[in-house]
Formats: sequence, structure tokens, C-alpha cells
Amino acid sequence: MKYRQLGRTPWKVSEISFGAWAIGGAWGTVDDSQSLDALRAAIDCGVNFIDTADVYGMGRSEQLIARLKRERKEEIVIATKAGRRLPSQTAAGYSQKNLAMFIEDSLRNLSTDCLDLLQLHCPPTDAYYQPELFDLMDRFVAAGKIRYYGVSVERVEEALKAVEYPNVQTVQIIFNCFRQRPADLFLEEAKRKQVGILARVPLASGLLTGKLKRNSQFEADDHRNFNRHGEQFDVGETFSGVDYDAGLEAVEEIRKLLPARVSMAQFALRWILMFDAVACAIPGAKTPAQARDNCAASDLPEISADVMRGVRRIYDERIRRSVHQRW
Ligand SMILES: NC(=O)c1ccc[n+]([C@@H]2O[C@H](COP(=O)([O-])OP(=O)(O)OC[C@H]3O[C@@H](n4cnc5c(N)ncnc54)[C@H](OP(=O)(O)O)[C@@H]3O)[C@@H](O)[C@H]2O)c1
Repeated sequence: MKYRQLGRTPWKVSEISFGAWAIGGAWGTVDDSQSLDALRAAIDCGVNFIDTADVYGMGRSEQLIARLKRERKEEIVIATKAGRRLPSQTAAGYSQKNLAMFIEDSLRNLSTDCLDLLQLHCPPTDAYYQPELFDLMDRFVAAGKIRYYGVSVERVEEALKAVEYPNVQTVQIIFNCFRQRPADLFLEEAKRKQVGILARVPLASGLLTGKLKRNSQFEADDHRNFNRHGEQFDVGETFSGVDYDAGLEAVEEIRKLLPARVSMAQFALRWILMFDAVACAIPGAKTPAQARDNCAASDLPEISADVMRGVRRIYDERIRRSVHQRW
């Protein structure tokens, strides 16, 4: 595992880290003992950064991570999020009172007295134009409730706005072979501002693992039952908002570019790591085998310029029109 500097924080984080949404719920049946094994396997592979949120299984994901932390001696940085428990998403909802309540709940779930990194969880666009919200976050830092804060964004423009606030340390954004827009402008800007980028949904909800088929079925409580045609672009960010069948066809094109003995998931993750502005990718994993497969991406050699151009061509020809200007 290789490590990268996380913005201006003191942390060097594993370039393949762990996204802990699926182990909380909304992805079909999960079993806590298997989820813990997946987390353990990731740590064994050198992962030292985990992304979670209060809403992932309403505390379940955070509590599993607290259990992991109790049994491991390694330093593991936990990034959680707040805001999605609001009954409706308004900028006004991101108030002192509400955030204080969410923070206290996360502190309890994570069995700690200070959160390592708290991310605003995709607040509405208006929130980024309210400096008072970022002042409020500074006050939570001063009060010792959180060490650092960042944002998880839906749109590239929100990311560009967020990095104008001097104490925003991280931006979590969708970035994968099917969502290449951050590479146009945002990655360079974040690098210039020394803001750490967390690349989320790196496997396009599993599409970029190459294992999904036209007739793949998902359990009733799996969010992958909707967005078959990209109609719910942002909701759950399922399949990165790409039409499912078009995504499958693009995956088959990408597959032709794979070097020998490299899995599709590893290739998709290595593609993200080719961008040095990215601090880490945070693939979700529900099993130890998935966690290990994903971590192995860090050991792969660089992808050649030719193959990178090939992925860009596939994006331009098959995906770009349906997603590029929508976020
Ligand atoms: N708004 C936000 O802030 C937000 C939104 C979305 C995600 N996130 C964060 O980003 C993380 C990652 O995104 P994501 O979980 O949506 O999607 P993802 O990482 O693109 O896909 C994860 C899913 O793909 C499958 N998978 C993973 N590794 C695999 C492998 N090696 N081989 C085969 N299948 C594999 C697993 O599901 P199956 O085994 O069931 O196929 C896994 O749950 C989340 O966990 C969360 O931390 C944040």
C-alpha cells in the first residue's frame, strides 16, 4: 500500500482506503461479522483511512468502525459526515443546533471524544454561499469536537466554491472512469489549495468491477434497484448516474484495455490513482476478498498514456453526453 498526503492535515492516508456505506446498509443483506472481517482485511492490507456517515445504517457503520478501532493498534483515521439526517435538505438545516446534535451522535457511535474529520454531507448548493456555516465549523474545531472538516459535494462547482474557505481540508467527490469532469479543472485547483480529494463511488456502484450483467438482480433493499436509466442522477449516485446498459457496454470496451492479470476493479481504481491530486479512492467492500482485491490496485504499475487516452475516448464517445454537464 502506498500513502498520500491528505491536504494540509498531518495524515498520510492509504491511497486505497475504505468506503463504509455498504456495510451500514442499503446494499442488500450485510452481516456484521463479515463486514468486520472486510474492515480487518483492509487494515491488514495497509488501509488507514475509513469514510463513513451517521446515516449509513443509522449508526451501524460508525459502530462497526468503533469495534474495529477497539481491536486494532494501528492509527486509523475516520472521516464521518453530517447533514443527511435532516428531514429536508435546506441550507438553514445546517444550523448550530442540528450539527451539534449530529456530532454528539457520531461521537457516541464512534466511541470517541473528538471526530478526526467531519464532512458536510452533500448540503444544498446554497449552503456553500453561507460563510457563517464554515465559521460554525471553525467553532466546532475550536471546541475540540472535531479535528478537521471538509465537504462531500454533488457538483463540481460546489467543490470549487468549497475550497475557497481556508479551513476546508478535504473534498469528497465522485471521480471514476465514468465521471471524469473533476479532471478538467477541479483537481488542479484543489492541488493548488492543498485540499485533499477523496474519490468516492470509484467503482460506479459495482459497474466498474465488470461483474454486473444485463440481467443482474439486486435484493429489495439494495439502492441499485433504481436508476437503471440514469433518471435519478444524484440520488444515491447509483451507477454514477449512467444508464445501466450504456455503462455495461462501456465496461466491455474498457475491459479490452486491461493489462494481463489485472481485475477490472483494480484497473478502475488504478485509473483514479493516476491523478496525483487525489489523496485516496474510497471503494466500498462488503467482504474481505473485495477489500483485498481493491487494495491490490495500489501495487499496480502506472497505466500507460495510450491506455489512459483509450479510457478518455470511451468516456467521450459513450458516457460524456449523458453526464458531463449535469454536475
Ligand atoms: N454522498 C456521499 O457522500 C457519498 C455517496 C456515495 C458513496 N459515498 C462513499 O463512497 C464509498 C464508495 O462508494 P459506493 O460504496 O457508493 O460505491 P463503489 O465503491 O463504487 O462500489 C462498491 C460496491 O461494489 C462492490 N465491490 C467492491 N469491491 C469489489 C470487488 N473488488 N469486486 C467485486 N465487487 C466489488 C460491492 O458491492 P456488491 O458486492 O454488493 O456488488 C461494493 O459495495 C461509500 O462506501 C461511501 O463511503 C459517499
